Amino acid sequence: MDDYRADHSQGPGTPIDGAAGLSALIDDARARLIRAAQDRNAAMHAPVVVTGDGDARIMVLRAADADFAALRFHTDRRSPKMAVIGADPRLTILAYDPQDRVQLRLTAQAHIEHHGPVADAAWADATPLSRRVYLVTAAPGGPLALPGSALPEDLRHRRPTPAETEAGRSHFSVILARITVIDWLRLGSGGGLRARFVRDHAGNGWQGAWIAP
Ligand SMILES: Cc1cc2nc3c(=O)[nH]c(=O)nc-3n(C[C@H](O)[C@H](O)[C@H](O)COP(=O)(O)O)c2cc1C
Repeated sequence: MDDYRADHSQGPGTPIDGAAGLSALIDDARARLIRAAQDRNAAMHAPVVVTGDGDARIMVLRAADADFAALRFHTDRRSPKMAVIGADPRLTILAYDPQDRVQLRLTAQAHIEHHGPVADAAWADATPLSRRVYLVTAAPGGPLALPGSALPEDLRHRRPTPAETEAGRSHFSVILARITVIDWLRLGSGGGLRARFVRDHAGNGWQGAWIAP
């Protein structure tokens, strides 16, 4: 078992085989997630996020860091998943790159921030159009009398002004996911390649091992 530190020399799509060693796989996972957060066209930009109750939904990955310590998602604090995460912080994050045939299955602990510097900075960075979803008048999943978006009528077909979006701030929350297990899998004609990395107890490094695909 080895310890794996950040190495940014590998990028997504770099050919990887068993000879490259375990570190190449965790570096690949890191690079994929960082790129996914930066590039809306990246394959892993919108992974499936599974809460402890087994429910699953697509969410846009907004930020990822080299230590896999704070994958950032944005959500409406009124959405049902917030109560679920509040009671049980376990998450699974599932992402797939069909071109490279790489699956990342990530086990994580979630931390919610309604207020504070991380949520404030994320809100400050959000465009008026992306802030608009927080102006919906019904909570996500709540009943509607008519089909539609639950946006106020006059905001349905236009970009709100920055001042108009401020009413959405109280609905905006950040979910930060600290990854504890990384399961890296690539299918291939030779049978595939898979490894599992577990964050060590001190939280500073990763223990990796090859496992059967
Ligand atoms: C492409 C796509 C991106 C989405 N991104 C987000 C997101 O970043 N945050 C979010 O809360 N919901 C996002 N959703 C909506 C969720 O999948 C889900 O419907 C919503 O969060 C409902 O809340 P719940 O999971 O608490 O029931 C997205 C859906 C799609 C199809």
